[in-house]
Amino acid sequence: MTSVPLICSIDIGTTSTRVILFTDSGEEVTKHQIEYSTSAKEGSKRNSPTIFSNEGIPLDIGEGGHVKVEEDHHAGPTLSFPEPGWVECDPCHILANVLECLGACLTQLEISNSEEPLDGSSPTVYHVAAIGIANMRETTIIWSKKTGRPLHNGIVWNDTRTLSLMNNLNANVPVSIRREIQERAGCPISTYFSALKWTWLYQNVPLIRNAYESGEGDLMFGTVDTWLIYNITREKSFMTDITNASRTSFMNLQTKNYDEQLLEFWGVDPNKMHLPEIVPSSHNFGTFELRDLKEIGYNRHVLSEDEANIVSKYLRNVPITGCLGDQSASLVGQLAFHKGDAKCTYGTGAFLLYNTGDTQLVSEHGAVTTVGYWFPELDESVDGPKCAEPHFCLEGSIAVAGSCVQWLRDNLKLIYSASHIGPLAAQAPTSAGVVFVPAFSGLFAPYWNAQTTGTIFGLTQYSKATHIARAAIEGVCFQVRAILNAMVSDASSSHEFLAKASQHHRENPLNTLHVDGGMSQSDVVMQIQADILGPSVSVVRSHNAECTALGSAIAAGLHKDVKIWESLEHVKKKLGGDTNGPNMYVAQLEDAKREKMWRLWERAISRARDWLE
Ligand code: G3P
Repeated sequence: MTSVPLICSIDIGTTSTRVILFTDSGEEVTKHQIEYSTSAKEGSKRNSPTIFSNEGIPLDIGEGGHVKVEEDHHAGPTLSFPEPGWVECDPCHILANVLECLGACLTQLEISNSEEPLDGSSPTVYHVAAIGIANMRETTIIWSKKTGRPLHNGIVWNDTRTLSLMNNLNANVPVSIRREIQERAGCPISTYFSALKWTWLYQNVPLIRNAYESGEGDLMFGTVDTWLIYNITREKSFMTDITNASRTSFMNLQTKNYDEQLLEFWGVDPNKMHLPEIVPSSHNFGTFELRDLKEIGYNRHVLSEDEANIVSKYLRNVPITGCLGDQSASLVGQLAFHKGDAKCTYGTGAFLLYNTGDTQLVSEHGAVTTVGYWFPELDESVDGPKCAEPHFCLEGSIAVAGSCVQWLRDNLKLIYSASHIGPLAAQAPTSAGVVFVPAFSGLFAPYWNAQTTGTIFGLTQYSKATHIARAAIEGVCFQVRAILNAMVSDASSSHEFLAKASQHHRENPLNTLHVDGGMSQSDVVMQIQADILGPSVSVVRSHNAECTALGSAIAAGLHKDVKIWESLEHVKKKLGGDTNGPNMYVAQLEDAKREKMWRLWERAISRARDWLE
């Protein structure tokens, strides 16, 4: 009996973790997902940062510096919001969630492997050939080499506690140095990236500062990928993939390694704090070994004995051969390998990546330069440079996308379920002059204005829920257009990009917008997106709803030790669907109407920005 190889993909997002087992044609054999608890009721609400003792026991510094010891330091939720603007995750809970998902998925696999088909045909038996990882990026975790225990909760990417540090640096560091930082690292000075989170931890957590200054080399720095890999290889591998490293602000995009000047700027001495080795997205990251989380002080029950045995049976010594930051993973899962391809994942916020091939563009319009993927073993190219070189992207983020739909549902009660937004908006052919700027957390790319608040313009006695629903969707789609405009104008003004581009790319720097994530599942929303972008860009929704997990599976399956797929062409042949089918949306709106809507949007943006100034 032959056994069919599967790739096990672990996808750690900001609000949930999932594990999916994929076949070589991208079918999901089993899947398990855990939404994180965030409820304060489940845990002790912390008003000060959690500081762990040398024994890994959290110390709460109460008023007057009095130290309290919590009885169960993992009683809290996975995600917590200790103060306005602060977002933390419990690194041990993250591991526990992964193990729980693995236990559930592999138990399902064990059951399916032991079932005899009713028709007497020979059963399909599966095994796991490799593991791939996709993860939320920038989130920063510091732990002790001696104990393996985190020294503080992870500071999550969207945490804004470093706002004043950022403002200080932006006010005091000369523009030429800031420009140099952005050119080397791809990232501007911002609360978003890992570097400032490190600065905050050093300045505010005595345990971390003392360990650093002692020079004993006990501190380990990592993003979520590194923390996971370190633990599921039982401390044998301390690595990060290049796409995650490109979000720390410590890596030089050209050398693909840590940059001495960047480290000096951010006050990181690699002799005082270990930094993970930076490796390609497809690489042998080590082999799986089940870790008992009690070893790092996590005493909650995670897997039953049976589940632990099943996890070990299927995963022991299975290589981890793929790892990508989640937005890069969805670019790969979208098969957006062409230079000039863009992808947008509509989640809570929305993330756009624009593939610039081997050209490292520095945006003049607020986009960030990041690494899309690096598959050094692939000596092929897809309309551009060889995949053996890192492929760069411009990235733009929108703070509020799906969360605006949630707001309409939970705060205004306009809809009962998020999926009702499309049908409600479809009841009105236009927004009847209503323009909604959903800037609940300020505006990100390309506007970058933290002051802007959410604003609705153009209400009249005639305005109905349908118009507001439509205007909310349009508000997200206009921001996508604004980011794409910015990226295209960055590309069109880059001599290097143009020199390396084909005639086709010079004329059409943007080919296709590949879409995935919650809002992309609505035909109405995607038609509005296509109408707002205009006829030169088609919007294509992936056949696979799980592009992020699939992307990490692709990275893992391409590795030479696994070879589920031989090449990107092979991947496309096995996974690529008919892109001209019902998942493609092209503009149907007249140009004049589109441009009139755009002018109204731009006016609304400038009014909304003025509101608090
Ligand atoms: O940069 C943050 C991003 O990686 C988070 O992605 O999907 O967890 O919201 P997601």
